[in-house]
Amino acid sequence: MSDTRPFSIHALEVGPMENFVYLIHDHKSGRAAVVDPAWDVPAVLALARRQGMQITDILLTHSHHDHINGIDAVLQHTDARLHLLKAEAQFWGQNLARPTLHHGGDEIRLGDTTIRVLHTPGHTPGSACYQVNNELITGDTLFVFGCGRCDLAGGDPEQMFVTLKDMAEQLPAETRIFPGHNYASKPTTTMEEQIEGNPFMHFDSVDRFVRYRMHYHDSHRDAPYGPICKGDEMPD
Ligand SMILES: [Fe+2]
Repeated sequence: MSDTRPFSIHALEVGPMENFVYLIHDHKSGRAAVVDPAWDVPAVLALARRQGMQITDILLTHSHHDHINGIDAVLQHTDARLHLLKAEAQFWGQNLARPTLHHGGDEIRLGDTTIRVLHTPGHTPGSACYQVNNELITGDTLFVFGCGRCDLAGGDPEQMFVTLKDMAEQLPAETRIFPGHNYASKPTTTMEEQIEGNPFMHFDSVDRFVRYRMHYHDSHRDAPYGPICKGDEMPD
């Protein structure tokens, strides 16, 4: 089947924490947005060069070190514009050079490609997901069969519960998920598969979700994460 979309998404796994860096490539203009540049910027630049892309934008899903430690190196080689949510910039408190600050629902134009910014708090106050057609880059909000931890500074498990519920209800089932880390038995998934097999999607009660996220999960489950059936009993 030929790919008629105006864009493609390239993934690079980098660094000691299995981070994914993504390049959104707008075919016609040759422009690219790099999402969460970190760890191995030479590999990112080499991929861009091989594919004839010019990096014009940097998108951040959030401000944690393992997602942002390549920003300066990208800016040394390009004139890319830096994008993040205003809520994350305020949480981070860094003095960023010329950032473009967004709110949930904003759209970023990359040639013929439109990238929609979703505000998905929980892992951090200003965590973002980036939606391009039916593809969604989720950072540390949604992993394949997992979700980001909520016990670090700025984390909020009650917000994460609402965020994941909203995503399950509002995103098309066929939405393809590109997470911020390779923590699972496979690197990518669909929203439908996550609603079925992601234990964090199985809670109706916020209190039980919070207990599972904050106290139960990390001592009872190891990466690489696999599916947990919706009918399986979950801890109280
Ligand atoms: Fe993170």
